[in-house]
Amino acid sequence: MNVKITGTGSALPGKILTNADLERLVDTSDVWITSRTGIKERRIAVEGEYTSTFAAEAARRALAMAGAQPEEIDLIILGTVTPDFPFPSTACIVQDLLGATNATAFDLSAACSGFIYGLSIAENYIRSGSAKKILVIGSEVLSRIVDWQDRNTCVLFGDGAGAVVVEATEDTDCHTLLSTHTFSNGSHWNLLYQQGSGSRNPATDRRTIDEGRIYLAMEGNDVFKHAVRGMEEAAVKALDANGLTTSDISLLIPHQANQRIIDATAKRLGLDANRIFINLHRYGNTSSASIPIALDEANRQGRITPGSNLLMVAFGGGFTYGSALVNW
Ligand code: COA
Repeated sequence: MNVKITGTGSALPGKILTNADLERLVDTSDVWITSRTGIKERRIAVEGEYTSTFAAEAARRALAMAGAQPEEIDLIILGTVTPDFPFPSTACIVQDLLGATNATAFDLSAACSGFIYGLSIAENYIRSGSAKKILVIGSEVLSRIVDWQDRNTCVLFGDGAGAVVVEATEDTDCHTLLSTHTFSNGSHWNLLYQQGSGSRNPATDRRTIDEGRIYLAMEGNDVFKHAVRGMEEAAVKALDANGLTTSDISLLIPHQANQRIIDATAKRLGLDANRIFINLHRYGNTSSASIPIALDEANRQGRITPGSNLLMVAFGGGFTYGSALVNW
């Protein structure tokens, strides 16, 4: 059985937070943020908007493009590190919002690699015959776990969601998922993590809040180096597995964390800038949502040449990393 991406969708909050806005919140500057990260602005959820809100909207748009009804979906995989609640899964809430009554639904925790991990699971469900039509979603409201007084982290992240419909198919004429590859390296889990609200620093213990142990924490410099190496390794694995070289790739959609990470990865791979899709200047790092948002924008803008090879590469906390190769 072959695997095909038949629809893409994305949803972003309407509220924009610019670098100039951040200058009024913390000791930072547009020049610093732009030169160190490439980010100019990010979207921020407002009251009444949750991870499920954006996930469901992105999924509706992907379903519309695929021409699929919610009841046809037999699996919903939602990558997120900012679920609506620790439980039940946000995927179950999205199932309810969509009316996808025939779906099994679960969340997936792989940080910024959540979408690629989700695609990998979807691929395996389809190849094994366990599912036919799957929604893979990445959705985050990171603005609710960052410390808005910490300039090292608060300037980097944003909110939003992206989704794809993945289907079983006999043919290989277009949008065929060629392979997915996933990796983990747990020895560096504490370089990028949310300190509180789990069982180590529970949200039910007042000290978690009082001592500031609730927020996202990151060793930016270390993460940077691992990210470049991890994305390169994942990209090379995908190329090798399909007997391809960088010259066979018409578009790279990398995880949108930092322009300098993307540039360094592209340099190692020998990929020129016009073959890389970038939208991080508008959204910042939206973790698991970053690749599916970029994929949806690239698709709707006609940036992906029919019949060409599209490579997606992710890296995130865990560490987790991975890649997916699609013949569009
Ligand atoms: N505005 C102004 N100055 C800032 C700042 C901000 N928002 N954030 C940090 N600084 C300061 C630091 O305090 C430090 O000052 P000091 O030298 O007086 O101590 C200085 O800038 C340099 O910090 P450094 O950490 O060396 O900068 P950097 O060039 O490594 O850039 C990151 C920092 C976070 C942008 C960079 O390390 C990075 O992008 N890392 C990867 C993060 C990421 O993408 N994570 C997610 C991956 S999935």
